[in-house]
Amino acid sequence: MGTNLLHLSSPSLVFLIIAISGLFGHTTKAIPNFLDRECEPENKTSTNATYQANLNILLSLLASNSTAPNGFYNLSIGSEAPNIVYGLFLCRGDVRFDICQDCVAAARENLLKYCPKKKVGTAYYDECMLRFSNEYIFSTVTVDVGIALWDELSVPRNDFKQAVVETVNQTAAQAASGSAKKFATKEAKLTQINETLYTLAQCTPDLSSADCWNCLQICIPSLHMQNKGSRVLYPSCTVRFELYPFYFGSLTAPAPAPAFPPPPVAVHAPPPSRPTSGEQRISTALMAILVPITVSALLFTAFPPPS
Ligand SMILES: *[C@@H]1O[C@H](CO)[C@@H](O)[C@H](O)[C@H]1NC(C)=O
Ligand SMILES: *[C@@H]1O[C@H](CO)[C@@H](O)[C@H](O)[C@H]1NC(C)=O
Ligand SMILES: *[C@@H]1O[C@H](CO)[C@@H](O)[C@H](O)[C@H]1NC(C)=O
Repeated sequence: MGTNLLHLSSPSLVFLIIAISGLFGHTTKAIPNFLDRECEPENKTSTNATYQANLNILLSLLASNSTAPNGFYNLSIGSEAPNIVYGLFLCRGDVRFDICQDCVAAARENLLKYCPKKKVGTAYYDECMLRFSNEYIFSTVTVDVGIALWDELSVPRNDFKQAVVETVNQTAAQAASGSAKKFATKEAKLTQINETLYTLAQCTPDLSSADCWNCLQICIPSLHMQNKGSRVLYPSCTVRFELYPFYFGSLTAPAPAPAFPPPPVAVHAPPPSRPTSGEQRISTALMAILVPITVSALLFTAFPPPS
């Protein structure tokens, strides 16, 4: 599905741990919270000066268009292959335009600094995502390389996992049905554990509803549903749940955990497999390293496409 974003083979997978203070995840700070970056591996770098100039122009124009009303903008620069560069940004659906602007500017700086001669690059922040590619990326589901993050604290209850699955799927359905913005949040009161579940789903709005739904159905199985919070970020879509409010406008009284609805659109793809045991193993090892550092740490790791 989609183009190969990073052409990853196993040895080129980069595994990262980044400890994130819980302080940065959901405040009104204008400083964007960097999550991760994926650039094409070094050995795939072979762009000429024209391409690099186009990339610089592209990133500048994207940054200057970051007040776009739906928090999304796509653009291509260059007229002749192989020097055409395609790019887009997507801000989280609830952030104000000034936060969106700060985030896209930071993402631009980040990609210019760390991926200046690459054919593809993606920078993920809490508040936005910015990506570019030498291949056409618009209206296309890209789910070949993603990031999973999770809170290491677990909630080992079947009813918790069930509530997460049901609520996240409802949020996904609502996001997929959007038009100008494919974004939804939903809260559910978990009376058994006296907590509120906060969920978010979003796709780039250039996707069709069916593609958005399919993309989210690839994200959801990679969530760590037995943990207190988790998210999955792909270039085309993202899902997240937490036991605290992490988006704006989450002050309304949460509704009770709802029943699982039928999907709004046909699902064409079979459910993807979970990340391989190798990645799970590395995640577990990372967890052992990280736990002594901070209890509020999140873990993340790059994982390859579902096969
Ligand atoms: C870059 O590539 C294009 C097309 O392959 C070529 O026409 C151009 O001369 C190259 N530019 C440089 C600076 O190498
Ligand atoms: C936004 O991007 C367009 C190209 O799509 C460019 O012409 C325009 O100048 C940019 N807007 C701003 C405010 O820079
Ligand atoms: C943005 O993407 C759409 C397809 O979703 C495409 O038709 C359009 O030309 C793109 N805009 C630019 C400025 O490239």
